[in-house]
Amino acid sequence: MARIGWGLIGGGEGSQIGFAHRASAGIDGRFEFLAGALDADPGRARQFGLSLGLKPERAYGDWRQMLAGEEAREDRIEFVTVATPNVTHFEISKAFLESGFHVLCEKPMTMTVEEARALVEIAEKSQRICAVNYGYSGYPLVRQMKAMVASGQLGRIRVAFAEFAGGFMADSADADNPRVRWRFDRAQAGVSAITMDAGIHALHLACYVTGRKVTSVSSDFAHGIAGRELEDDSLTAFRMEDGVIGRAWASGLAIGRTHGLTLQVFGETGGLRWAQEQPNQLFWTPLNEPTRVLERGASGLSDAAERASRITVGHAEGMPLAFANIYRDLGEVIASRQAGAEPDPLALDYPTAEDGLHSIEIIHAMAESAGNGSRWTNVP
Ligand SMILES: NC(=O)c1ccc[n+]([C@@H]2O[C@H](COP(=O)([O-])OP(=O)(O)OC[C@H]3O[C@@H](n4cnc5c(N)ncnc54)[C@H](O)[C@@H]3O)[C@@H](O)[C@H]2O)c1
Repeated sequence: MARIGWGLIGGGEGSQIGFAHRASAGIDGRFEFLAGALDADPGRARQFGLSLGLKPERAYGDWRQMLAGEEAREDRIEFVTVATPNVTHFEISKAFLESGFHVLCEKPMTMTVEEARALVEIAEKSQRICAVNYGYSGYPLVRQMKAMVASGQLGRIRVAFAEFAGGFMADSADADNPRVRWRFDRAQAGVSAITMDAGIHALHLACYVTGRKVTSVSSDFAHGIAGRELEDDSLTAFRMEDGVIGRAWASGLAIGRTHGLTLQVFGETGGLRWAQEQPNQLFWTPLNEPTRVLERGASGLSDAAERASRITVGHAEGMPLAFANIYRDLGEVIASRQAGAEPDPLALDYPTAEDGLHSIEIIHAMAESAGNGSRWTNVP
């Protein structure tokens, strides 16, 4: 099978997320890394691209040069990942979609609801895939949770409890650190800091696993470190379709919680509990029965979990492999389109631009609610 030409924008040397993308895109051999504009600094971008084995003419210094360069090539890449800082996502994703490239955009997909709506429309019009890297939805046991909810094993879902609370913004000495300071500056970060950055993943997982959208929110945004303009801690009560009760906590102040992404779902006939730091175990408690530990890679899991699981039971399988499941889904869908064939329906589970839009709508409703004394606010 021919490999799909792939490019990366952002994710330069020393960036937080660049390695995870390069590793994940490479795992299944579906993509060939052919082009990149990897850094805000053109010299560093070219240098790093060369060090990763890109050809000199495709180790670009700037994403606009990359767009023009690739458009002009017969063997142009087909698919690009946007892993730059948030404010640039819309402009770059829009430009590549409009020029006929498939796009995987980092979260948050855009800064505003209007931009997010525009990207959904542009993707539809251009008939290109626009996906959003809610990479944690690639974990096998997250897909197991979704499958168990969908098959009715928990009965009607009553409560979804989502948290992304870690200690990553807890050091008050960071007040003067430029890499942290911009995140709490409204002019640069938009309406929200920790909720847009981290809470958005937890909210996406709640929607992904329950298969429901958030309909209304009541949020309290606060900052525990003086001088921050935006929140470093937020607590939200929300409602989802079909009356599901939602709770979400996002915090950068929770020292000791490390990465701190968890999801709990409680239905009429059982509860599920999963934490990203122990991603190989899912705790399932059927009503009036002892808790069972479902192990990733063990037999008896759903087709979706088995498909997403790569390594024998008992071995650690982590975040790059979860991201790799998103890349594999996208690779399968792109290849099927090229062949005029139907993809495996399980490959259609990747997070889409519509999911990206819904998330932005939720966060903006949360910020509005928080600014109005936690008043209940509808999500459009
Ligand atoms: N999905 C996840 O789990 C996850 C985790 C971490 C970060 N992220 C997202 O990834 C994005 C990047 O975050 P990060 O933590 O890696 O940031 P970072 O600051 O560590 O790295 C950003 C990289 O992008 C480069 N860059 C900046 N502007 C550029 C431009 N115009 N063109 C090309 N390169 C440019 C920088 O030089 C740097 O290499 C953010 O949107 C963030 O929200 C997602």
